[in-house]
Amino acid sequence: MHLTLNDPLDMHLHLRDHEMLKITAPLSAHSFSGALIMPNIIPPVDTKQALLDYKHRIIEAIDNENFTPLMTLFFRDTYNYKFLSDMHDELTAIKLYPAGITTNSEGGVSGFDLEKLKTPLTAMSELGIPLCIHGETNGFVMDREAEFVPIYEKLATAFPQLKIIMEHITTKESVQALDRHANLYATITVHHLLITLDDVAGGMLKPHLFCKPIAKRSEDRDALIQVAVNAHPKVMFGSDSAPHPKSAKECCGCAAGIFTAPIALPLLAELFEAHDKLDNLQSFISDHAKNIYNITPPKKSVTLKKEPFDVPQSYGDIIPMRAGETLKWKIASVQ
Ligand code: NCD
Ligand code: ZN
Repeated sequence: MHLTLNDPLDMHLHLRDHEMLKITAPLSAHSFSGALIMPNIIPPVDTKQALLDYKHRIIEAIDNENFTPLMTLFFRDTYNYKFLSDMHDELTAIKLYPAGITTNSEGGVSGFDLEKLKTPLTAMSELGIPLCIHGETNGFVMDREAEFVPIYEKLATAFPQLKIIMEHITTKESVQALDRHANLYATITVHHLLITLDDVAGGMLKPHLFCKPIAKRSEDRDALIQVAVNAHPKVMFGSDSAPHPKSAKECCGCAAGIFTAPIALPLLAELFEAHDKLDNLQSFISDHAKNIYNITPPKKSVTLKKEPFDVPQSYGDIIPMRAGETLKWKIASVQ
């Protein structure tokens, strides 16, 4: 059995920088036509020059692959219309992190004071720049995302022309919010469609399944699966593939992030097939993102075959999800 996907897009990807970028960038560039590149490197991407330089390093690392890095800027409440209009053509979105909520987010937003956010968010609305948000409060870990939903709704109401993407949603509360506001959209990862907190911490602790937001309950996962496999038009794939070196994962004080980029398409094929919805994978993996972001990525067709794929134990010093396991689908060819 074969499945061909046209122009697969990963609308939330951490490629990192320097040596790690040389491992991660070719892997994503091989099987995706484009990806939205997260700006939480050190230092964060928050100027035009930093964005252009980082894009250049990514393009160097992918070596002639037919792949578009769709660049993002790290949100600051100091951005204004002049600054953003000058770099508008270079960026696809701006990513907002609540301060200190996840990896390298220390310079993010504290409190969500509409007065303070008015200048940058009005400029983004006028320029048509989407706002991607890591929506978690600093409350109890299982409740952080649900507690953030009122903040999403406050922003969506105050800035009706602004496209707001709820990144890597993990709860039924976020799924329900999607249909209450015309300008709310969401990305969903493959790992949140597969695992719950039980897989992370229900038995022996699994550091390679630890990420933010943490995987939730089975009813949350079911709500995510329903909108993903049934092709809800406001939902698109974003892997949140977030590599860390093995030494930062297998230690006391495990870094948050799951590395899924090289196995994402085979895992999604298996999941959509299990729900008898393989025909809807094309819209989840590409069509919805093209519509939501109004982008035309380079043409690429990726053919998957239903044949065993042995996931490598590691890619350099990065351990992928499902390391050493055998998946049901593999990437057979890319054109
Ligand atoms: C991400 C990272 O490591 O950059 N980690 C994660 O667990 N997802 C940051 C993020 O998206 O939260
Ligand atoms: Zn992320």
